[in-house]
Amino acid sequence: MGRSGSGGVTRGKSRFDDIYVQPDPRAYFTRLAPLDYEIPHHAQPVFRQVAAERAAHGDSRTGGLVVLDLCCSYGINAALLNHEVTLAELYERYTSDTASRMSPEELAAWDRDFYAERRRPDALRVYGLDIATPAVRYARDAGLLEAGFTDDLERVPPGPELRRALPEVGLITLTGGGSYITERTFTALLDGVRGHVWVSAFVLRTVSYEPVVRRLAAYGLRTTVETSRTYPQRRFTDEREQQYAIQAVRALGGDPSGREEAGRFHSVLYDSRPGGAVHAPVTGGHQPDHLAGADGSTYRD
Ligand SMILES: C[S@@+](CC[C@H](N)C(=O)[O-])C[C@H]1O[C@@H](n2cnc3c(N)ncnc32)[C@H](O)[C@@H]1O
Repeated sequence: MGRSGSGGVTRGKSRFDDIYVQPDPRAYFTRLAPLDYEIPHHAQPVFRQVAAERAAHGDSRTGGLVVLDLCCSYGINAALLNHEVTLAELYERYTSDTASRMSPEELAAWDRDFYAERRRPDALRVYGLDIATPAVRYARDAGLLEAGFTDDLERVPPGPELRRALPEVGLITLTGGGSYITERTFTALLDGVRGHVWVSAFVLRTVSYEPVVRRLAAYGLRTTVETSRTYPQRRFTDEREQQYAIQAVRALGGDPSGREEAGRFHSVLYDSRPGGAVHAPVTGGHQPDHLAGADGSTYRD
């Protein structure tokens, strides 16, 4: 199953497990740079906008809106949400000669100053959840996350610390994690929040998000998606991965021409907010009728 240089393959998609569990993000950026991993860049303005709308929507939580970044890794979405910085600058920073000479502790100290100087006045409280303990620890040490959790909700219920934190969460964000987590993780999160939480998720077109959408609907959240608007995620590692993606997109009713056929994974944005009728969870495979495009179009391309 293993593939050289990519950390393996799962269901046709190359894996990068080794770069997720380093003490700092240098290997992550170095390995992903040639693949143009760019989804956090596309998410940056979207998450800022959704967070502003969520905050304006009113929140009874003490201390203001808390964003939970799911599959947060080294805190990249938190960096981009709360600081005057771009993903391109992060690539430059973490692949620089200066960074390469530092210990992980020196890098975290360098980053604390860097992010403190660039902190936006309207910065939000961000919590992170990821099973990669070293990455979450780094994000905390660099000052990017107010709290970090490593519970694997695919396997176990939330531990006491996450359980205590969840009622504060008003918005859940996700990039790059849609292939790793399922409705199990969302069920655990939604069971723990207080009132309504919004979810803003960029998910690869090779993955069905329908089970999650159905589960969110059971908690009163209506999901909209504009399938014609796609966001490039990264280049394929090789021809084999591209063929897998093309077939997976077709199998889900999508059209890979001009997108996956042109050499990159593409994601779509799922936006879930209160408004759906509260259903019992549906486990069948039919098209959910509450999943309508933002423009009133249907879910599929
Ligand atoms: C492709 S990375 C995305 C990181 C970051 N969100 C980004 O876009 O740069 C996927 C992340 O999902 C995490 N992950 C895998 N399984 C998970 C699970 N069951 N719960 C939470 N995070 C998980 C991995 O550890 C990894 O950090």
